[in-house]
Amino acid sequence: MKYALISDIHANLPALEAVLADIDRRSDVEAIYHLGDLVGYAPWPNETVSLIRSRAIAGVAGNYDSTTGTDYKHCGCKYENPRQEELSHVSYDWTRARVTPETKRFLAALPFRLDLWPLGGHLTGKPRVTLVHGSPTSNTLYWTEDRPDSFCGQMAAIAGMKAGDVIAFGHTHRPWSRESSGMLFLNTGSVGKPKDGDWRAGYVILDVGEASARPEFVRVEYDVQRAMKGIRHSELPDEFAEDLRTGGSPVTETTKPNP
Ligand SMILES: [Fe+2]
Repeated sequence: MKYALISDIHANLPALEAVLADIDRRSDVEAIYHLGDLVGYAPWPNETVSLIRSRAIAGVAGNYDSTTGTDYKHCGCKYENPRQEELSHVSYDWTRARVTPETKRFLAALPFRLDLWPLGGHLTGKPRVTLVHGSPTSNTLYWTEDRPDSFCGQMAAIAGMKAGDVIAFGHTHRPWSRESSGMLFLNTGSVGKPKDGDWRAGYVILDVGEASARPEFVRVEYDVQRAMKGIRHSELPDEFAEDLRTGGSPVTETTKPNP
């Protein structure tokens, strides 16, 4: 059973369109799921939600979705400095002012987690796949690659996982995976706002078999100039356009930014 997992689209419509086109070119993907953060940082929140809905892509609530949907006082995002905090508030206020009531209702109704039974719900003991945005405890918790195995074990216990199961999440915008105690921990990265120094849209194909699950990390080139133009022509901060061009940080020799 092959799933396409897409996370942290963040209203970047050109990136989402390119990812869906890439998935559509594959003939063996059974279903697409999103892992939240559909909106924020780019100027197409309503269009992004419309496309997700028109494709009937089920998924979970990211912090940006549940805060926008419930009119919370901030987006639940992490700031590394005062400037980032200021920009974050601008983005959140902009997004809240522009989402339609229909979009808002859709975001507010997203579930916190989804459980998939790839080989059939009537078969107990078979592998399960749990989808959350940040972690099984909170959609604002950052499950970064440097978390120890003991942390993964705690999260697995909270999620009710057993050997052979998978938990997939996003939120950090940096893809990684690890096997521990027979379970797969999978951060699917970000479609619309990568922060690993690679500007291309990221998603994961998860192949779940009887005995094991295997993730394939995919990167897709998209019309980043269109996304940057869209940001610059809106009241959103120009810094967000620059973030898309560089793919955030860190930039390494192997992940050069788009010229
Ligand atoms: Fe996010």
